Amino acid sequence: MEERKGRRIIMFPLPFPGHFNPMIELAGIFHHRGLSVTILHTSYNSPDPSRHPHFTFRTIYHKKEGEEDQDPLSQTKASGMDLVALIRVLKKSYEEPFRKSLAAEVVGGETVCCLVSDAIWGKNTEVAAKEVGVGRVVLRTGGAASFCAFAAFPLLRDKHYFPIQDSRLDEPVIELPPLKVKDLPVMETNEPEELYRIVNNMVKGANSSSGVIWNTFEDLERLSLMDFSSRFQVPIFPIGPFHKHSDNLLSMTKNEEDHVTTDWLDKQDPQSVVYVSFGSLAAIEEKEFLEIAWGLRNSEQPFLWVVRPGFVRGTEWIESLSCGFVENIGHKGKIVKWVNQLEVLGHPAIGAFWTHCGWNSTLESICEGVPMICTPCFTDQRVNARYIVDVWRVGMELERSKMDKRGIEKVVRSAMIKKDDGIRERCLKLKERVNVCLSQDGSSSKYLDKLLSHVLTFDP
Ligand code: UDX
Repeated sequence: MEERKGRRIIMFPLPFPGHFNPMIELAGIFHHRGLSVTILHTSYNSPDPSRHPHFTFRTIYHKKEGEEDQDPLSQTKASGMDLVALIRVLKKSYEEPFRKSLAAEVVGGETVCCLVSDAIWGKNTEVAAKEVGVGRVVLRTGGAASFCAFAAFPLLRDKHYFPIQDSRLDEPVIELPPLKVKDLPVMETNEPEELYRIVNNMVKGANSSSGVIWNTFEDLERLSLMDFSSRFQVPIFPIGPFHKHSDNLLSMTKNEEDHVTTDWLDKQDPQSVVYVSFGSLAAIEEKEFLEIAWGLRNSEQPFLWVVRPGFVRGTEWIESLSCGFVENIGHKGKIVKWVNQLEVLGHPAIGAFWTHCGWNSTLESICEGVPMICTPCFTDQRVNARYIVDVWRVGMELERSKMDKRGIEKVVRSAMIKKDDGIRERCLKLKERVNVCLSQDGSSSKYLDKLLSHVLTFDP
């Protein structure tokens, strides 16, 4: 831990685990390098500050007491989740309260050297930061390749790629190799125009910032980072993977269920278990859920499967599985509501990760050298999957639209059975590259030094 510098960074995460977690990890990195950190967080999905005692937490409220009935956020929750609508409401609801909270933070106390805001807040945070004379750096929690695909949205629209036509899914996108039309980072929504607005606002907000921090590393995404730098005149700081800068971050928080999971994994053979998780936001239909369940069961491989409450539309948890199924899997499979994923992926029993290819999951799997089975659900996950399968070649594809129990059984078996396809070797090589990037002279360490000097130059 470095000497305290008497300087404070203010951070404004988007309130979803896939965004909040990397922001907190970044906060840990800044804190370790001597900066104080204040997290301005939304009252929606409010975190538990006691889990992060090094940081100051301030809640931003978007409504006054007694106004709950007209709360657009609780309505969004109740009506099931259209993520695009949810982000639209979040951005609108918190824009003004954020401006006030930021203004209150910069008065008195330690000098605030900059604001780090999630890229998806877009240009909303720009005016607020300007008003109080604080520099603004953006954190992009996703990868550089997917960002470049988002940045190409206006061009892709001009060229009539959108709305995506089923007949073109397997065509290459010649403007964005190696992507195919089905890999373009869109999602099902009732508000397609709003999706383009959010994406364009994110890209513009990054372009007008004083720097973009990426949770990626140069060896993994060199070409995409170069592509970004050739188009945008903004300093870049690819300092990831964040969670590997210190062992002391999210991995330390273990609950009772985590211990039970670890005990179960300890009893399994090395590289024998397929770990299945679709992150914190994706949801599937009951029919798909049952296909996955039987596909896993019929593969006869041990599995650890995270089924979040709410993951299966229209059900509470796993009640649609028959008693016969649960008895049938016996000790061979384990279904849980949540795990400490960093710990699970690092466990020697894990042989493959069947993932939705969220960026954090992708990076975490790469860091542990675990091969992936890729079933992207929406937005950046589709781009990540294409890179995992065709560029880094550390995973295999299992398309969601073609996911029946037979196909699942086949792919899971194939991923778990040792063969001469080079996937495991490539995984281990990529894992080594992570260590090189994080070593003292590695690219992520050098970019981190640059980032720290950069944010300290914002001082008034
Ligand atoms: C979302 C988007 O879907 C993703 O595409 C984008 O890149 C980031 O925001 P999410 O779907 O939650 O994220 O996926 P992912 O990026 O993989 O993040 C999930 C995080 O939750 C990971 O850090 C993972 O370690 C953690 N997790 C997940 C757990 O700790 N336990 C679990 O049981 C499941």
